[in-house]
Amino acid sequence: MIKLSIDTNSVLVKGLDKPLKSEITVPADKSISHRAIMLGSIANGNSIIGKLSVSRDNLATVAAFRKLGIRIEKMTGENKIKVHGNGLYGLKEPQSVINTYNSGTLTRLIAGILAGNDFFSVLSGDKYLNSRPMARIIAPLALMGAKIFGRKNNYPPLSIIGSKLNSIYYDVQIPSAQVKSCLIFAGLYADGNTVIYEKNKTRDHTERFLSLQDYPFTEEDTADGGNIINIKGGGELKPFNIEIPGDFSSAAFFIALGLLLKDSEITIKNVLLNDRRIGLISILKRMHANVEIIDYSEEFEKVGTIKASYSKLSAINIAEKDVPDMIDEFPIFAVIASFAEGVTVVRGAKELRVKETDRIKAIVTNLNKFCIKSKEYSDGFEIEGNPDYSGQLYKYNNSEQKLAHINKSNNFDVLNDSTEKKDAGRFQIKSYGDHRIAMSMLILALLLKNKETEVKDVRCINTSFPNFFNILNSIID
Ligand code: S3P
Repeated sequence: MIKLSIDTNSVLVKGLDKPLKSEITVPADKSISHRAIMLGSIANGNSIIGKLSVSRDNLATVAAFRKLGIRIEKMTGENKIKVHGNGLYGLKEPQSVINTYNSGTLTRLIAGILAGNDFFSVLSGDKYLNSRPMARIIAPLALMGAKIFGRKNNYPPLSIIGSKLNSIYYDVQIPSAQVKSCLIFAGLYADGNTVIYEKNKTRDHTERFLSLQDYPFTEEDTADGGNIINIKGGGELKPFNIEIPGDFSSAAFFIALGLLLKDSEITIKNVLLNDRRIGLISILKRMHANVEIIDYSEEFEKVGTIKASYSKLSAINIAEKDVPDMIDEFPIFAVIASFAEGVTVVRGAKELRVKETDRIKAIVTNLNKFCIKSKEYSDGFEIEGNPDYSGQLYKYNNSEQKLAHINKSNNFDVLNDSTEKKDAGRFQIKSYGDHRIAMSMLILALLLKNKETEVKDVRCINTSFPNFFNILNSIID
């Protein structure tokens, strides 16, 4: 049983000593949940959303649209939410700052909507969110005529004075579904047609909603493998009735556990299988993983069952073109690579530096604390994998970590560099306030048979996966 210590905001994890055979479901997709609330709020009529994610990020979106005057209610006796859409121009000026907590998606997407609404609003989040770059949306929105200002012209708080927007052609240089979606939203409010070109395709949930809501827009593949979206301003969004599938990015932690824990098999049902989200599956197959999609169906999104069983993995090279389709999975991918035979190299992933934390630094620092050889590149990282790795503290040569151990317990006098004794002490790892780093490190800790790891600052897991510990405990107890 893994128990969160409320006082210290940490967990103590003991590595598992037996295989797992389990079938689970994971909570609803975070990206789709954000968009369902946003697009339901500006639709003409009431939308019904089944199984909305209740992660902290998604609840922040619900609170934001309630603050903008939208009625959003839980339907009695059902796991469904009703959003009373009020049309493109039915939002009210918020009376206070909109708190976007830890959510980059909320901040960037809502900015596109607010830029087209004739009132004043301010967006501000937690210390991590307020350190994330916003020039990527400020610049194109300003080109559309929006009055949007940020700290140092780049960081939240953002203040927005909405107005009529003009349409633009915009080449989204950074592969980012958040930037693309922000501009699609602003395009709804622009005169004429807004045209967005993305060289590297990114998740297309916003476009799928526009189709579902019968909104006038077109989408076309380009000869170079990119995508052009053309949105007509001033159309009407129809209400919808959907059920949101499980989040692949949450499922990925359990896929890793199934692949890496000896003789295990984990099946995850009802998972979103959008092609732009499951890049990790193709990469894992190239690493010789036993991971399969065992059935699927498609309505407004592709949904299915994934089975992951214990595998002997080989290292892999990840290049820039592979990155967008697995952008959120790098923390858990790093754990997987730690057990793959050979050296795994990730390049072309500099976006990882500006996620919930600098994920390149967080991954490498933490793996090195586990004595897994790993190094940073400006745009990626390298990991020397070892299929037999079981958490040898004795190899450790970072004095900071060693001191932390020595100070914490008197068992640590066995920890000197010449000793052959393994298994002494406990790993101590930080999440850097990043939900996905926290969960990845917890999975790594579970793989180290009978070893103890303390993972600090884990409450951030609520950002995307509030029942992570419940699901984990239900399969390991
Ligand atoms: C998201 C897009 C991605 C992803 C984030 C959610 C979205 O960000 O990392 O967790 O819902 O659009 P970028 O598009 O900025 O890479």
